[in-house]
Amino acid sequence: MNTRLTELLGITYPIIQGAMAWTSEHKLAAAVANAGATGVIASGGRDADWVRNEIRQAKALTDKPFGVNLMLMAKNIDELLQVLVEEKPAFVTLGAGNPVPYIEPLHAAGIKVIPVVPSVKLAKRVAGAGADAIII
Ligand SMILES: Cc1cc2nc3c(=O)[nH]c(=O)nc-3n(C[C@H](O)[C@H](O)[C@H](O)COP(=O)(O)O)c2cc1C
Repeated sequence: MNTRLTELLGITYPIIQGAMAWTSEHKLAAAVANAGATGVIASGGRDADWVRNEIRQAKALTDKPFGVNLMLMAKNIDELLQVLVEEKPAFVTLGAGNPVPYIEPLHAAGIKVIPVVPSVKLAKRVAGAGADAIII
């Protein structure tokens, strides 16, 4: 199946598994990626070492693209951003805050950025700032 999303992420089916804090970790994300859609490791409530380890474990289970979700209200957001820039998941979904300042540093690391937005106003802002796709 060929859609803009399958082309953007290099996946077979245009389906992104929803991030679920405390639930979607490397095994689920890798399994969904191996099935032809794409999975997301949820970083909400987790520390930076946990996220780094989960990304590495997911990469051990799949060579397919998967993502990480950032909850922007997290107190350790700077540390989490640093881990993502170093570990380079294929994409990051991010919400619960203003995604705009995170787009450039993630792009500079070669990571696609897919904000989760609750309004047309924010959708237009993140599109203008270079978001690769938007989750409404
Ligand atoms: C248990 C649970 C935890 C969730 N945690 C997150 C999260 O950490 N980050 C996030 O962006 N969305 C989170 N969500 C929202 C889901 O990713 C998804 O957007 C939502 O369930 C709507 O998708 P659906 O219409 O396919 O169910 C969570 C949802 C559930 C059910």
